[in-house]
Amino acid sequence: MTEILAVGEAMGPALALLGGGDVVAIPTETVYGLAGDATNGIGVARIFEAKGRPRFNPLIAHVADMAMAERIAIFDPLSRKLALAFWPGPLTLVLPQRPGNGIHPLVTAGLDTIALRMPRGFGGDLIAKLGRPLAAPSANSSGRISATTAQAVAADLGARIKLVVDGGATPVGLESTIVKAEGKGLRLLRPGGIAAGEIEALIGMPLSRGGTAGVEAPGMLASHYAPGAAVRLNADTVGKDEALLGFGRRRAEGWQHAAAFLNLSEAGDPREAASNLFAYMQELDRSGTRTIAVEPIPQGGLGEAINDRLSRAAAPRDNLLPPT
Ligand code: TXA
Ligand code: MG
Repeated sequence: MTEILAVGEAMGPALALLGGGDVVAIPTETVYGLAGDATNGIGVARIFEAKGRPRFNPLIAHVADMAMAERIAIFDPLSRKLALAFWPGPLTLVLPQRPGNGIHPLVTAGLDTIALRMPRGFGGDLIAKLGRPLAAPSANSSGRISATTAQAVAADLGARIKLVVDGGATPVGLESTIVKAEGKGLRLLRPGGIAAGEIEALIGMPLSRGGTAGVEAPGMLASHYAPGAAVRLNADTVGKDEALLGFGRRRAEGWQHAAAFLNLSEAGDPREAASNLFAYMQELDRSGTRTIAVEPIPQGGLGEAINDRLSRAAAPRDNLLPPT
């Protein structure tokens, strides 16, 4: 069984587990991560094992500071500008690996690029104390909704990991935005906790989107983020047997009769909605409903990332590649 320790008492035990090649679930500003020493093959293998994750899906390496990042990857000027502006924070950069960086090849699934992120809070402190980068995917079983509380991590992975560090509900509530330098510009591989518009404003040009061949960021597989219930998007009516996930003040017709109802943001604020998204999906799922109807959510700001996760949750579950 797993132990849940508050951040104030977890540093020593977390360091001991990581030093021994074991995994620890940690809070970050986006979602909880399942962390292992990125230079230790056993630790990294245990991450995949605990998640039941397909081996081909590469992980994000988390760093404590810019010096650690530069030892692992080669920064182009645009990526460095983004790192300086948004780190620590919910941004992941895909960069060419620096040869001899000591990162275990299982982290990158053998790619010559690596996804890097500098997290805020406990994760950053832990990495600085360990002195080595941490590989950490979201702390959920493969294909399931990411966990935004220590209790959600324990409910899902508790039987398979020894320690969950409890830092309370994660403030952003969505995974990081992933971008990759490409030619003279940047490609958005996954919308996330930093709105694409904020990045575009900083670099003074639009991000390219779509059009990547194959599964470059397998988090982009359609079945990702699936709850147990079916998900129906852009609902303007709701049936008696459906649960309703609302947004803003305008209600779908028949909402009074919904099996369960939660509002992502009464005020219609996409930031607030993002922070509630996964916890509310899980709560509606637990109500035992067969379908979660979701009211329309505008694309602006973090709306793009919210709609990305919702459309994956709504995608058909059959005949897909193994979920990640
Ligand atoms: O907010 C987050 O990003 C959380 C917290 C824990 O940091 N982590 C997270 O990790 O969402 P994960 O493993 O669930 O998603 C990482 C995504 C995957 O879709 C993976 O395919 C992609 O990053 N990725 C990793 N390395 C890559 C690479 N070299 N090129 C392209 N995509 C990569
Ligand atoms: Mg994930």
